[in-house]
Amino acid sequence: VPDIPVANVQAHLNDLQAIATNNGGNRAHGRPGYLASVNHVKAKLDAAGYQTSVQQFTSSGATGYNLIADWPGGNPDDVLMLGGHLDSVSAGPGINDNGTGSAGLLEVALTVAREGLAPTKHLRFGWWGAEELGLVGSTYYVNNLPTTERSRIKAYLNFDMIGSPNPGYFVYSASGQPTGSLLLQQTLQAAFSVPTELTSVGGRSDHAAFARAGIPVGGTFTGAEVTKTAAQAQKWGGTAGVAFDRCYHRSCDTIGNVDVTALDRNSDAIAYTLWTLAGSGGNPPG
Ligand code: PHE
Ligand code: ZN
Ligand code: ZN
Repeated sequence: VPDIPVANVQAHLNDLQAIATNNGGNRAHGRPGYLASVNHVKAKLDAAGYQTSVQQFTSSGATGYNLIADWPGGNPDDVLMLGGHLDSVSAGPGINDNGTGSAGLLEVALTVAREGLAPTKHLRFGWWGAEELGLVGSTYYVNNLPTTERSRIKAYLNFDMIGSPNPGYFVYSASGQPTGSLLLQQTLQAAFSVPTELTSVGGRSDHAAFARAGIPVGGTFTGAEVTKTAAQAQKWGGTAGVAFDRCYHRSCDTIGNVDVTALDRNSDAIAYTLWTLAGSGGNPPG
């Protein structure tokens, strides 16, 4: 499994910060910084050979956008999907929430292309709109999939906040899920070089619509508004008695609000999980 260069992930975060700065300080649904974020990520994926599409929806009187990217090849009846939300709250640029997940997924997607990966499964990535308005984009995507298309998606992995400045290493799936979700959870856990905690995040991110549709889900998360305990600081470092992300949903969620080690480990974990679950169809020669 290739190591994901964290410097590349950081470069994507710098791009998202610049987009926010140039568009009134945020990348929120219905604001110009959101569509600029979509166009930016889309251009990188198009150049790398992805088949991309932008799905529009309406929420709170504004047009929202999901960006979907398919890596050509693999079994169309056996789709592995990975995603995270690309929108921020309106209070700030949303660099940890969720520039980090968006950037980590982008760099993993670009690494798939660089390596010429030809996996057994078909790979699809999603960058969701309007998560911050109540999981609107991902719910729209799942609810508008024809039944046959929906049944082709065998697993969905979600990455929302993977570089919290006082990080924890959380892995989740969803309760009442098909058995496959346990495998996803175990694979994500195995991907980390640090101890993890299994947690339940309920319906707090974009995996929820997939879980509701009976698709096995999993994800990683480095923590938001909750305070790190002494025991957690012992095993993970950082500061006990302080939130995992003090800048959660605030204007200070900027490029300075990221722990690079957590971002690096989680980006590598996305790659490890993708390479493990997608099946090594092997790299084509050349
Ligand atoms: N989805 C939440 C937000 O964007 C953050 C979150 C992510 C919470 C993952 C729990 C688990 O605000
Ligand atoms: Zn948020
Ligand atoms: Zn989020």
